[in-house]
Amino acid sequence: MPDVFARPIDASTRYCAVYGFPVRHSASPAMHNAGLAALGLNWRYLAFAVPPVQLQEALRGAAAMRFVGVNLTVPHKVLAVEMMDVLDASARLWGAVNTVRFEGLRADGHWEPLGQWSAEAEPEQVRMQGFNTDADALVQALQEELGWQAKGSRVLLLGAGGAGRVAALKLAAEGVAQLFLVNRTMEKAAAVAEEIRARYPGCAVTLGYPEGTVDLLVNATSLGLRAEDPLPLDPTRFPLERAGAVYDMIYRPAETPLLARAARAGCRVANGLGMLLYQGTRALEIWSGRPAPVEVMRRALREHVYGG
Ligand code: ATR
Repeated sequence: MPDVFARPIDASTRYCAVYGFPVRHSASPAMHNAGLAALGLNWRYLAFAVPPVQLQEALRGAAAMRFVGVNLTVPHKVLAVEMMDVLDASARLWGAVNTVRFEGLRADGHWEPLGQWSAEAEPEQVRMQGFNTDADALVQALQEELGWQAKGSRVLLLGAGGAGRVAALKLAAEGVAQLFLVNRTMEKAAAVAEEIRARYPGCAVTLGYPEGTVDLLVNATSLGLRAEDPLPLDPTRFPLERAGAVYDMIYRPAETPLLARAARAGCRVANGLGMLLYQGTRALEIWSGRPAPVEVMRRALREHVYGG
């Protein structure tokens, strides 16, 4: 592991951060500081508990202090969309921002990421560009960890909150043939289904449990975070033997009751650590313009979350 303290903070150190509310649970500082050290960058990654009513102020403060970038987590991702100066196609597409890049105006009129300016340079104007790396990260994790192929597949998605909505739209965009949506509040699933029908008519979307089998089941609810939580699905309505693979966006605990049951039922299984990793590696690439040290960041994340 790179020693993240090997290089002392000095007057040239640049900063990135995650804003959440709460943020104490975040594994992002451990993952990113290891990545930054491996890249040999004199940057540090911090974490701030920013109340939603002060999100705008906190973003402007980071811009004023010439931060390189900021990640946003619950509950800021949708709120931030309106606060950006520019939205990348990913943020526009999913209506949520999890990565902000600060950019400075060059004399020739083009905006360059602050991470690529030298520490001595002083941009007169700085703007915020919003990106969303969550959706691509989910698909990368599904492909790499479960060998999942989107095209023509049948998927059961549990959850229609912030994470569930983006997952549903992304799965439809990737070419899923049949998507089944289940959520405690079915009105929210119905709204997501409407959005998919309008934007991705090639995906047949149905509310409720499927008959027969699915290639993939994804849990995008928060059920499983706490030991006393019930399963996020009703196994009498959908026995897990009928799923080829099960992905749980939760990564703490490493094995949720859903994943334990799915493994016993013979499904291929993976937890949400890969998604967390890939949204982070993509953010670091957006800020630095360099390939992220994926394996270093994966190890740091595992060590932080599971203690090795
Ligand atoms: P996130 O941004 O992580 O998606 P969210 O928008 O609050 O957070 O969504 C949480 C998801 O977990 C929703 O699908 C929610 O169901 P509702 O839409 O009915 O609220 C689901 N969820 C949370 N607690 C639940 C519970 N006790 N039983 C069933 N579903 C639950």
